[in-house]
Amino acid sequence: MKTRMTELFGIKHPIMCGGMMWLCKPDLCAAISNAGALGNITAANYDTGDELRKAIRKTREMTDKPFSVNLSLLPSFRITKEMYLDWFNACLAEKVTAFEISGAPVDKFFGPDAIKRGHDAGVKFIHKLGSVRHAVHADHAGYDAVIAAGVEEGGHPLMDDVTTMVLTPRMAESIKIPVITTGGIADGRGLAAALILGAEGVMMASRFMATTECRMNNKVKDELVKRQEMDTVLYGKGIELQGRAIKNEVIKKIQELEARHAKLEEFAPFLSGMRQTTVFDDGNCEDAILPVGQSIGLIHDVISCKELVERMVKEAETLLKGSSKRLNIYKP
Ligand SMILES: Cc1cc2nc3c(=O)[nH]c(=O)nc-3n(C[C@H](O)[C@H](O)[C@H](O)COP(=O)(O)O)c2cc1C
Repeated sequence: MKTRMTELFGIKHPIMCGGMMWLCKPDLCAAISNAGALGNITAANYDTGDELRKAIRKTREMTDKPFSVNLSLLPSFRITKEMYLDWFNACLAEKVTAFEISGAPVDKFFGPDAIKRGHDAGVKFIHKLGSVRHAVHADHAGYDAVIAAGVEEGGHPLMDDVTTMVLTPRMAESIKIPVITTGGIADGRGLAAALILGAEGVMMASRFMATTECRMNNKVKDELVKRQEMDTVLYGKGIELQGRAIKNEVIKKIQELEARHAKLEEFAPFLSGMRQTTVFDDGNCEDAILPVGQSIGLIHDVISCKELVERMVKEAETLLKGSSKRLNIYKP
């Protein structure tokens, strides 16, 4: 399955993993890249550029395939401007394949020549966006690709609330650089649909949580298999940091704060990313925000990254060949 996405990154399959703080670490990244997709190391796992460099080098001990680094340029209670700069420079020095950028444009954080400096070091830039106007800006600014992130996605869906189904073709018809699509994709049907909608491939995060190589408590993986597409909720629009996560006790508390227009400081204990480690390590799915997309409804098993990627590609190829037989292999 060759597309402009596979050509751009030198990968076998048009699939990449989106950033996931605390989860996208060397083991998972290398497993995804070895499966022929584009793995991800999330910079926010690390406190310094040196720690990130160590993680990049550790990943390279496990794979000789390309992978990207996620830089989330979003408001944060923990991350300082110096940390962003340190990560950026570490990635240029290590000549990683690509940055997956979410939030603000890179020039706002790293200066007007940020993309040129990255390109000189051989690093590509992908911007994850929720609107056509931002995609047009990214095209003009010199990014190599954009991700059309529909409101179905886990993490921080952009504030325009446009669905993947509409955003993908709208971006594809509006810009010249490749569009990769994300939000609600978890199987070969999603991959086939994305290609038909004009994308060059897909990005997934929630689905990669339910793989054997994702290092988190198995209780969370069981929860992902058990829960359905209506079990996630949008929160945080009022404080301009919209998120989508599984419905749980902490989300209920956040919704209460939102309902009474509480001050930002009152949200802080719940929004701190540090709290999520208790979910991923201890498996307590009620104790912190558990980011996950509506694609949770399409997660029915925990398998290896290789099985997942190969299964998706096979299904998508079958569907794209025009098979009229509906795939019926997802019955739990
Ligand atoms: C557990 C989890 C953590 C995430 N953390 C980040 C992050 O640190 N930075 C970021 O840009 N996106 C983050 N995201 C969003 C994903 O990279 C991706 O955009 C989104 O999950 C794709 O939609 P899907 O969940 O339907 O696959 C996270 C998503 C999940 C599920």
